[in-house]
Amino acid sequence: MKAALIEKNGGPEVLIYGDAPDPVAGPGEVVVDIHAASVNAADWKVRVDGDGKALPFPYILGRDFSGLVSALGDGVTDFAIGDAVFGVCDVGQEGAYAEKIAMKAAIIARKPDALSHMEAVSLALTGLTATVSIEDTLKLQAGETILIQGGAGGVAGFAIQLAKHLGAHVITTASAANHDYMRQLGADEIIDYNTQDFTKTVSNCDAVFETVGGDVSMQSYAVLKAGGRAAFIASGGTAPVPPRDDVQGLRPAVGRDREHLERVAELVALGAVQIPPITEYPLSEAAAAHRVSEARHLRGKLIFKVR
Ligand SMILES: NC(=O)c1ccc[n+]([C@@H]2O[C@H](COP(=O)([O-])OP(=O)(O)OC[C@H]3O[C@@H](n4cnc5c(N)ncnc54)[C@H](OP(=O)(O)O)[C@@H]3O)[C@@H](O)[C@H]2O)c1
Repeated sequence: MKAALIEKNGGPEVLIYGDAPDPVAGPGEVVVDIHAASVNAADWKVRVDGDGKALPFPYILGRDFSGLVSALGDGVTDFAIGDAVFGVCDVGQEGAYAEKIAMKAAIIARKPDALSHMEAVSLALTGLTATVSIEDTLKLQAGETILIQGGAGGVAGFAIQLAKHLGAHVITTASAANHDYMRQLGADEIIDYNTQDFTKTVSNCDAVFETVGGDVSMQSYAVLKAGGRAAFIASGGTAPVPPRDDVQGLRPAVGRDREHLERVAELVALGAVQIPPITEYPLSEAAAAHRVSEARHLRGKLIFKVR
């Protein structure tokens, strides 16, 4: 099969469009013929230095996919050949920048008929992460106020819509060029982080969802009211330790399971979440897609149209 793979860590230029062995479905697995795969911010972090891990080269990046089941491993009874599915690779597994992938059947879900493969994958890892963070970790309630950092990003864009659907008041940060987009997603208040200091203009929040990282993470604690909680997904594997003892710092445990993907599909069916702006690339131009993602000003999602 064809894949976008790396043979060493480094800049975007290490991404090569080449050949890799076809995967085989082990017990409990299916092979999915991938139609679309997405670029997530984690991908270029892994490309640069393994994100802290030594990679077995050649290595295929990519964490989410949508496609058709083309082979069944022993014991798989819940899918048939030809079923349209979407999913996120198991924790510690990658390989979606490819024409095929072998995947644990239990953690993937049926693709909603109303969505194309490109649309389904645009909501896979981002939707999974946002639902775990907003609903399971922060347990956001109607009437609460939340600051969502980095609103124009893939995860945060989903989170804004989910928070509005739950009945929260949503404040977000974005550069001026994205303010109309933020309003379209439902944000109630928008801070231009280039010209405004959010720690001076925002206060008394019940919750923060922090997706930007760097200094923004620690500073985010300042906007919480006593008893508030903040969830962090861009600061490594643990939440930064709060500088005050009346708030909570949380690191969402973003596992992989069918239930959260079905929740994503349900939110789309309810009309609560719209498809993000999609920029399409062929798999052979993975390096170009990574340059855009790594520049950190992407609106919506970069998607590889694989077939
Ligand atoms: N399982 C997990 O824990 C998990 C899963 C998914 C993602 N993540 C992490 O979550 C983070 C976000 O991922 P993503 O895929 O959603 O990112 P993304 O789509 O690449 O986010 C890019 C966005 O960040 C915004 N941005 C950049 N700097 C900003 C700042 N200082 N303040 C506010 N907004 C800023 C940009 O908007 P402007 O152009 O308006 O600046 C751009 O739209 C990444 O660090 C990723 O690794 C973790």
